Amino acid sequence: MHWRANSKKFKPEAVSRWLRLLARRGIRPGVPEYQKCRDMLMPIRVPLGQASAMDGGQTPYSWEPGKEINGFMMVTGGSGSGKTEALKLIGGSLVRHGIPVITIDFHGDVIFEGQNTLYGHAPQSGGQGLNPLAIDPATLAGRGLEVKIANEVDRIGRATGRLGYKQASCLRKVITDLYREFGISDTLYSSWRAAYPSLVDIFNRLSLACEEGMEGFDKQTLRECRAKVETLSCNALFRHPWPLTVQGMLAWNMRLDCSQLGREARLLAAETVLDMLFETARATGPIPVNPRSDSERYRVFVIIDEVKILSLGRGNTEDSRHILNVLVTEGRKYGIGLILASQMMSHFGSEVHAMVSSRLVMRRMDPREARRVAPQMGLMPEDLVSMESPPGTAYFRSASTGGTVMLQIDRPPIPECQGLISEI
Ligand SMILES: Nc1ncnc2c1ncn2[C@@H]1O[C@H](COP(=O)(O)OP(=O)(O)O)[C@@H](O)[C@H]1O
Ligand SMILES: [Mg+2]
Repeated sequence: MHWRANSKKFKPEAVSRWLRLLARRGIRPGVPEYQKCRDMLMPIRVPLGQASAMDGGQTPYSWEPGKEINGFMMVTGGSGSGKTEALKLIGGSLVRHGIPVITIDFHGDVIFEGQNTLYGHAPQSGGQGLNPLAIDPATLAGRGLEVKIANEVDRIGRATGRLGYKQASCLRKVITDLYREFGISDTLYSSWRAAYPSLVDIFNRLSLACEEGMEGFDKQTLRECRAKVETLSCNALFRHPWPLTVQGMLAWNMRLDCSQLGREARLLAAETVLDMLFETARATGPIPVNPRSDSERYRVFVIIDEVKILSLGRGNTEDSRHILNVLVTEGRKYGIGLILASQMMSHFGSEVHAMVSSRLVMRRMDPREARRVAPQMGLMPEDLVSMESPPGTAYFRSASTGGTVMLQIDRPPIPECQGLISEI
């Protein structure tokens, strides 16, 4: 076959249908035949919208991540300016190129063709959940169990509010004991594929300790620790007996809908997914120095709407261990693309600002924000304020367009087909 996703001859819907047909035959990301099919859909060209030309005509513009130094895009703009619609357009197009797309959806409205949703709040009777304590063998081989435990304590601390040093030490002991009881150790390779403890096990262990006591920790510490873990372990997402693997997330273009989850749980869920993706990509090794095509250059795209929830939620945006900073500084090397949207530039840390190669700025913006954004885009603040511009009017700056262009972003197509991870 000699056709391409972006050839004019084949409509996007036809490509979607073809990919669905392949998926029904079991040809999904992670299956070798899939790579061959995907090569036919390269290079990645994401049509964004039309710019008005001098002669009154329209010039189409696209984002071509293969021409950029990295696949990171930042989308900013006021409420109702069209950010979520733009993410849907971009996500749908990336899926049609056969690149897996993972969406962290804090508001529950980033819905496009080809995704399968994992609802954070619903009991996933037939589906899957998330287990932050699950271990990827390759990661364990690289970093060891102690680092995993320390990271997990940090993550639970960030999600639930600062853990005191006694609480952190108590949690570390409980998790270490649980791994040992489940027969998982650094040195015994065969143990890494065993069952893993879950947040529910931590909660049960702490409940027991509250009654019977635990050496070295007073009852007050144990009770506080248990209360913090309970806010997480009570969620159906973390109680599910079958945790989703990264392979599964990629093969099904997972959309994690966190919109109905509590503040603590959605932070932990988002961080867990991003950390799993990053660790797996790192364990797979760097992409080739000179990638043959975009299918070698990009292994996955991650879309996060309302990044503010992740970047400002109980963490320090400037902390270099913050998962967003880790992804922007190291993600490119491992084939990760990122599309991040939030209302204001200040929702992103300076490492994110330094690294993103493409910026999409929605035109409707309040004057203070416009003053901050304009220099980054090579514009005057007045260009960004205009109240009469309709939603979807944006300035786009990237290497693909060779500078800043003003666009009317296309409307994303209504999805024909999407599913639930619980149906799989
Ligand atoms: N490209 C577009 N063309 C036309 N209308 C748009 C476009 N983008 C957004 N809109 C309209 O604006 C509304 C708000 O857009 P949305 O993407 O939800 O904004 P935001 O996420 O920035 O708050 C949409 O429901 C839609 O009606
Ligand atoms: Mg939105």
